[in-house]
Formats: sequence, structure tokens, C-alpha cells
Amino acid sequence: MNQPSKPLVAIIGAGPSGLYAAQQLARKNVDVVIFNRDIKIGGLAEYGIYPEKHKMRRGLITQFQDILNMDGVTYYGNVLIRENGDLTFKELMSLGFDAVVVATGAQWNRWLFLPGEKLDGVYYAQDVVYHYNGLPPYSAMDFPIGEKVVIIGMGNVSMDLAHFLTHERKVQEITAVARRGPGEIKFTQQELEAIAAHLNFPIVKEEIESAAHLMESLGQDPEEPIKMIESAIAKSAPRVSETHFTLRFLLSPVEILGDEEGKVTGIKFEKNTLVQKEDYLSAEGLKEFEILEADTVMFSIGNRVDGKFGLPVKNYSYCKNPNPRFPIKDTSYEICTETGEPIEKAFVVGWARKASVGLVGLARKDSVQGARAVLQYLDTLPAFTTTTLQDIDRRISQIEKPIVRKDDLSKLIQIENEKAQELGVEEYKYKSNQEMLKAIGLIS
Ligand SMILES: Cc1cc2nc3c(=O)[nH]c(=O)nc-3n(C[C@H](O)[C@H](O)[C@H](O)COP(=O)(O)OP(=O)(O)OC[C@H]3O[C@@H](n4cnc5c(N)ncnc54)[C@H](O)[C@@H]3O)c2cc1C
Ligand SMILES: NC(=O)c1ccc[n+]([C@@H]2O[C@H](COP(=O)([O-])OP(=O)(O)OC[C@H]3O[C@@H](n4cnc5c(N)ncnc54)[C@H](OP(=O)(O)O)[C@@H]3O)[C@@H](O)[C@H]2O)c1
Repeated sequence: MNQPSKPLVAIIGAGPSGLYAAQQLARKNVDVVIFNRDIKIGGLAEYGIYPEKHKMRRGLITQFQDILNMDGVTYYGNVLIRENGDLTFKELMSLGFDAVVVATGAQWNRWLFLPGEKLDGVYYAQDVVYHYNGLPPYSAMDFPIGEKVVIIGMGNVSMDLAHFLTHERKVQEITAVARRGPGEIKFTQQELEAIAAHLNFPIVKEEIESAAHLMESLGQDPEEPIKMIESAIAKSAPRVSETHFTLRFLLSPVEILGDEEGKVTGIKFEKNTLVQKEDYLSAEGLKEFEILEADTVMFSIGNRVDGKFGLPVKNYSYCKNPNPRFPIKDTSYEICTETGEPIEKAFVVGWARKASVGLVGLARKDSVQGARAVLQYLDTLPAFTTTTLQDIDRRISQIEKPIVRKDDLSKLIQIENEKAQELGVEEYKYKSNQEMLKAIGLIS
């Protein structure tokens, strides 16, 4: 039971941001209660980071388990906080916590609302990522993929998709398309290295050279992306399939084309030029069009937060108080309404605060700062809540579904590790929540 002299803070989400925030708060003698939609902890570290990065994933998950096992940290997994969820955000806010931290990430796809987006063979990156990374229910869904795949977007997630398509699905052809130029590539050399052996370098070089004049007029050096790609090829992992991989630039998708059976046949792009707008190079359409043939299209253009969570959304993220009471390094961690009114005791960290930006290390930094803002707020309270951990547990026990607590999670992790050893694989994941709950013994 928490002592009346200790503050009680709820954290929604057990991804990197929620867990690192919990660590900071628990270290300062705060009782922390984590609510997580997934049964397992880790968020995108468990269900986003490419499966082959075993060492990194194992390292993070071990760290996260240690955080969960800290004194003062309570865990409720398999609990969805949202409109029509197991509890609404409003209900959670009324349970008597001294502060509530939203760390739900940005786990939803961005949509462009183009004609043809509903055709068979059109996918959004997050769904495919969740599928190959074993997140229920995507893990058990079918994702038919053809031979000619166009990926819209040129960030690290696009490279992860290309990795999956060359290594697992072994498709014939992948074309990643950027709306801006070679100077605005968002993926890193390191991520390209995993698949660079599949690159059709002469075509990529020709593509960059055809943008050279425009790049030079903007003060960019076309040799830079060429060198980066050459360097990735030099360090590339070996080829694993016959897949050819190409990059195209300065093309914005305008329509996905399909046949009479509703299947994708291609994608129509508008050609772009680049225009300097203050500190941003903007893609501007030239009213000239090009069609690329494809039987599969994947949009990999970044994530957004959940629009049905119960909080207003701006720029794909939850709204922050523009005049924070507790700014940390000029950053606001305080949630506000659409009209900018602060929502008392509600804080936001990680990708929920700034959607789709940065690696786990950045999420950690953000949570450390966000936790500082929460601690400063707690310091202003004349007294802490009289609500106890038992009160919270009683309320959560009323939810009519199995709730996963710390011991259950440890058991699940142990069972999955044993299964992996038995099968001689690096990692074993149950495909559905039902299987996980059954393995733990929470359902029969
Ligand atoms: C495909 C992909 C690959 C990546 N690869 C790497 C990599 O290789 N290296 C690296 O450093 N970074 C990588 N990143 C970035 C990294 O995953 C993020 O920086 C980090 O996961 C963000 O952490 P977060 O806790 O804010 O959000 P998330 O990791 O998304 O965690 C959110 C948590 O909130 C929970 N949740 C969501 N909604 C609700 C709700 N309504 N109620 C209750 N709980 C909820 C979820 O179950 C989840 O546990 C990758 C990202 C993506 C998309
Ligand atoms: N291995 C890793 O380290 C790893 C793996 C995956 C993800 N991550 C991290 O996760 C974060 C998110 O990655 P991400 O790849 O999803 O996002 P990202 O890096 O922001 O890349 C998104 C891509 O989509 C394009 N795009 C956005 N809106 C578009 C539109 N309306 N039309 C056409 N194209 C559009 C962007 O082009 P513009 O530049 O023109 O906007 C960009 O090429 C990044 O910080 C990334 O580094 C890291």
C-alpha cells in the first residue's frame, strides 16, 4: 500500500518512454502505476525494432524488466485506455492519482486519403511492421504481397520494410519513392547496409545525377548521397534473394490505380521541384505525371497518435500547453485542450508528445525531462492523494477481462524464453493474446 506521504502517479503506456519515466519517478519515491494496452512491455522496442536486431532488443527488454521490478512500480497489462476502451482517459483521471503521464506513443498510421487507398495490396507501414514483429492481432493476419512493391517514403521504417521484403518475402522488385530529393533522404547509412547489396546502384546514381542541377541550385552536393550509398554498399550484408531495390526522388503520390477486381496495378505520381521556404525545403508539384507499375504499395510516411484516446491532437501528437508551468529546457510536457487551456495534472512524454521522432535514446531523454516536470508539479501540491494502491487494484479488478500483473508477465517471458530454447530460435512470441493468457494461466 502506498503511504499518504508518497505521491501516486499513473503512466499510460509501457513503451520506452513510459518505462523510463516510471524509473525516474520510482527513484524519487513516487508510487507509479503503469497501464498498458499490450500484454507485454516494450512498445515499439518489442513490436517495432526490426526482429533481427536481437542484441539490441534483448538489452532493452532486460532493462525494461528491471524497471518493472523496481519497488513502487505496479503494472496492469492488457488494459486499454481510450474512448470505448477498458477505461476512458477521463475515468482514469478521476481515480485519484496525483498526476497522470500519457506515454502511449504514436502507434497509428498517417493517411494521405488518396483515391485508391482501399485497393487490395495497399498497406500502411505500421500494420506490416506489427505483423512481422508479432503484435496481436496483426501477427495472425494475412498480408499478401506481390512481386513489384512501391514504398512511399524514404525513412528508416522504409528501410525496415525493404529488409522484410528482401529477406522474408523475397519479392522481385522494390522501389522506394521520396517526394523530395536525394539531399532529403531520411534513412541512415547503417539501416541501408542491411539491404544495400540488393540496390541497383547504376539506376540510383543516374536518378541522383538527374537531380544534381536542382540540388546544386539549392547549395547541396549531389556527391554526398552518392558517397553515402556507395559506403553502405561497401559494408553491406550479403544478398539473400534475387530482389532488386531502387530509389526514386521528387515524386508525390496522387492516385493508386487498380483493376476491375480491386487489385493494385500501379501508382500515379506528380513530379516535383524543391522550393526553399524559411528553414524547410518544400516539394512543389510540376503538373507533370508518371506512373510506376506495382502490385503492392506500402505507405511509410510516419506515425500519428490515437485520435480516439480522449485528448485533442495537433501535428499528429497530443496538444501541449503553450505556456507550461514547468518547462524543461524550453519544452512543454503539460497537456492542454484544443483551445490551449491546461489540463490539470496531465503530462505527456515520448512519441505521444512528438509523434514519430527519434530513436529509443531520444524517448529516454524525453521521459527523463518529462519526469522532472512531473516532480516539480508534485512539489507544488499541499498534500498527496488519499487514494491507495489497493483502491486502484479494486477498480482495475472490476474490468471484465484478464489483467496481466508483474508476476504474470515474468511467467510469460520465462515460458517464451523456454520455448525459444526448445525450438533453437533467438526469440519465440505467441501470436495472439489468447495464447499468451492461456500460457500464463489467466484463461483456460
Ligand atoms: C518500425 C520502427 C522501427 C524502429 N526501430 C528502431 C531501432 O532500430 N532503434 C531505435 O533506437 N529506435 C527505433 N525505433 C524508434 C523507437 O521504437 C521509438 O523511439 C520508441 O519506441 C518510442 O517510445 P514510446 O514509449 O514513446 O512509444 P511506443 O514504443 O509506441 O510505446 C507505447 C506504449 O503505449 C501502449 N499504448 C498505446 N496506446 C495505449 C492505450 N490507448 N492505452 C494503454 N496503453 C497504450 C502500447 O501498448 C505501448 O506499450 C523504431 C520505430 C519504428 C516505428
Ligand atoms: N533502425 C532505426 O534506427 C530505425 C528504424 C525505424 C525507425 N526509426 C526512427 O523512427 C522515426 C520514424 O521513422 P519513419 O521512417 O517512419 O519516419 P521519417 O524518418 O520521418 O520518414 C518518413 C518519410 O516519409 C516521407 N513523407 C512524409 N509525409 C509524406 C507525404 N505526405 N507524402 C510523401 N512522402 C511523405 C518523408 O519525406 P519528407 O522528408 O519529404 O517529409 C520521409 O521520406 C525516425 O526517427 C526513425 O529514425 C529508426
